[in-house]
Amino acid sequence: MGLSIIILAAGQGMRMRSELPKVLQPLAGRPMLAHVLACTRALDAGDVCVVYGHGGEAVPAAFNDAGVRWALQSEQLGTGHAVQQAMPEMQQDGMVLILFGDVPLLLPGTLQRLIGVTDAGEMAILTVEVEDPTGYGRIVRDDGDVVKIVEEEDATSEERAIREINTGVMLCSAPTLKRWLDRLGNDNAQGEYYLTDVIAMAVADDVRVHGVKADNWVEVMGINDKKQLAEAERALQARLVDDLMSQGVGFADPSRVDIRGNLTCGKDVFIDINAVFEGDVSLGDGVRVESNNLIRDSQLGSRTLVHSNCHIEGATTGDNCEIGPFARLRPGTTLADDVKVGNFVEIKKSEVADGSKINHLSYIGDSKIGKGVNIGAGTITCNYDGTNKYITTIGDGAFIGSGVNLVAPVDIGRGATIGAGSTITKAAPKDKLTLERSEQVTVEGWKGPAKNN
Ligand code: UD1
Ligand code: CA
Repeated sequence: MGLSIIILAAGQGMRMRSELPKVLQPLAGRPMLAHVLACTRALDAGDVCVVYGHGGEAVPAAFNDAGVRWALQSEQLGTGHAVQQAMPEMQQDGMVLILFGDVPLLLPGTLQRLIGVTDAGEMAILTVEVEDPTGYGRIVRDDGDVVKIVEEEDATSEERAIREINTGVMLCSAPTLKRWLDRLGNDNAQGEYYLTDVIAMAVADDVRVHGVKADNWVEVMGINDKKQLAEAERALQARLVDDLMSQGVGFADPSRVDIRGNLTCGKDVFIDINAVFEGDVSLGDGVRVESNNLIRDSQLGSRTLVHSNCHIEGATTGDNCEIGPFARLRPGTTLADDVKVGNFVEIKKSEVADGSKINHLSYIGDSKIGKGVNIGAGTITCNYDGTNKYITTIGDGAFIGSGVNLVAPVDIGRGATIGAGSTITKAAPKDKLTLERSEQVTVEGWKGPAKNN
């Protein structure tokens, strides 16, 4: 039978105290709702419909190409009312699975378990046992099956002592659910249309309600405030790092690394503490990332070594490169094999061929650097005239002395040597020494300034 999914994401999330709608709050670098959508993709669902409301069009706009339907709940009158808004968007038969946009760590396996136990004509909810059930809907069972969910505000003191709670995940036949939703009232402590009230209707209609327990609290935790968001972030990071360790990646401390996107690693990769990976990052075999690095949308070739304190974004390296400490690779940086980029070097939109070295205090922008080039300390490509950017090219085997300004557009020939301190504005021929310096003078009779009174 067909499966449809409804994700409730219209709530305000007032406790986040943020301008950003709750389901757009980031978790591992992606909006919370993206994690729920990723989980649904692993299930074979016909329709997926997200109920949005608070935060308005910002929520659907953030998921333009997610291939899901959207239903607007303009007033947040409760979870039952929210599901009702989505029903016209859904297949009219088959089963419907209801998820919450603020429960982002759910795993598809758990949902498959829920689907597996539920026969046609039955329903199921996902529950969990917690130490402190305060604030959650309590599960009331009779003879093993669920007979009622009582919200905190409406519970008797006996019911409040129940430690099994409702996670919000529900599975039900679509036509039956539609019938029950039409009968929901809001005569309760919060004046809301509670989705959970359909349980009592199921019992009255002799429909069996399975209560399937989740294995752990983390997977079903609902996120309402920044503390819970941080807790979920750590839990998700632990899950991501665990996964990488089982693939053979080494971490100095699995709790001190952050992966905000997709990190793929070859064999024998080692990652030291406080490395942050954002977007799509791939690390080749034997890559080592020392402490305190930010690496975003970059590919590092095999055995590349990133020393401490580098900032690497939109860069590609070949094999056996050595970067940092304190280097910055900006978008469009391509290093071939065996390239060395040392401390306080910034490279932008430049290609550096095999075996070249830029070891200290340089800015290289819009450049094409050949093989085996040595760039001396403090050399700068002057790529910008205040209006336009220009290219610097340096031929294979060139040697650029320290403190050189290369005023682009400019060409340095193969094997050329540029004398230290030169400001080069014209092409420098190959295999020759070119320099540009005023003659050194010593001023006779010079006196230092006298101190003013
Ligand atoms: C709900 C459940 C409670 C469960 C808890 C788990 C009900 C009545 N209660 O309570 O049993 O233990 O979740 O976290 O269902 N939403 C809408 N529109 C609305 C109201 C809510 O889309 O009008 C969405 C929210 O964005 C959120 C979800 O539904 O994703 C849950 O809403 P929330 O107000 O957090 O429900 P709880 O009071 O926590
Ligand atoms: Ca909640």
